[in-house]
Amino acid sequence: MQLFSLAGRVALVTGSSRGLGLGMARGLAEAGAKVVLNGRDPVALSAAVASLDGADSEAFDATDEAATAAGIAAIAARHGRLDILVANAGTHGAMPLPDWRTADWERVLRANLTASFFAAQQAAIPMVKQRHGRIIFTGSLTGSRGRPTIHGYAASKGALAAVARTLAVELGEHGITVNTLAPGYFETEMSTLLRQNAEFFERMTARIPLHRWGQPEDLAGIAVFLASQAGAYITGQQIFIDGGLSAAL
Ligand SMILES: NC(=O)c1ccc[n+]([C@@H]2O[C@H](COP(=O)([O-])OP(=O)(O)OC[C@H]3O[C@@H](n4cnc5c(N)ncnc54)[C@H](OP(=O)(O)O)[C@@H]3O)[C@@H](O)[C@H]2O)c1
Repeated sequence: MQLFSLAGRVALVTGSSRGLGLGMARGLAEAGAKVVLNGRDPVALSAAVASLDGADSEAFDATDEAATAAGIAAIAARHGRLDILVANAGTHGAMPLPDWRTADWERVLRANLTASFFAAQQAAIPMVKQRHGRIIFTGSLTGSRGRPTIHGYAASKGALAAVARTLAVELGEHGITVNTLAPGYFETEMSTLLRQNAEFFERMTARIPLHRWGQPEDLAGIAVFLASQAGAYITGQQIFIDGGLSAAL
């Protein structure tokens, strides 16, 4: 299992006090990485740290460029390196087409796209020095498949996969890989409203070939794979983790 070992690696997962980020952080920690959890609410963050043996934390708002830069520099200084960035913090946005305003659009793009790009920019600094790094973006199936009302969200996630490709091409010579995970429908706080819509929940569950919504731990394996030696030759890719939904008609 040496191929999947993350012993000696340091990982930052943004937006990991709950949900998909915490699920991926658990996987990375189980594979041996020193994991740094992140979120804005210090109380939620402390609870998450207490639930994960040996985890560290760095609270900052990922939409604040200066705070992100300071947070990432502090992690690299404290642990002597930064090998893995999972840029996962994000927000949702869904409303009827006439209701979208520039402020809504910019809020969603800033949280999902701009923040992830600038986190990657900062993480690349120690990674280039080390000549090793793994950057993983949390995109979404909806970045590649249309659904009504989520215009800004879909735009942000589709663009994230595009940015992963430009970063992969630019950073490859430094031994850094950059990939996007595109989850389908997962049971987290973010999807609460969708799941409370019983008609939508049942219809989507029936359409998903594996006939269930994802759980945060369903992302742990792919995060470990991409972050480890096993994923060393995979870069610039978008990988769907959606119970087969993207493959269905
Ligand atoms: N759930 C799904 O079905 C699904 C599907 C596809 C993609 N995704 C994507 O997966 C990612 C995680 O979603 P989730 O479902 O796990 O959401 P969630 O349950 O709402 O968790 C979001 C996490 O991110 C943190 N966070 C939010 N904004 C932040 C910010 N500006 N700076 C730092 N931390 C922040 C939250 O903590 P604080 O609020 O304390 O900061 C929390 O820890 C998002 O990018 C989302 O778009 C989710």
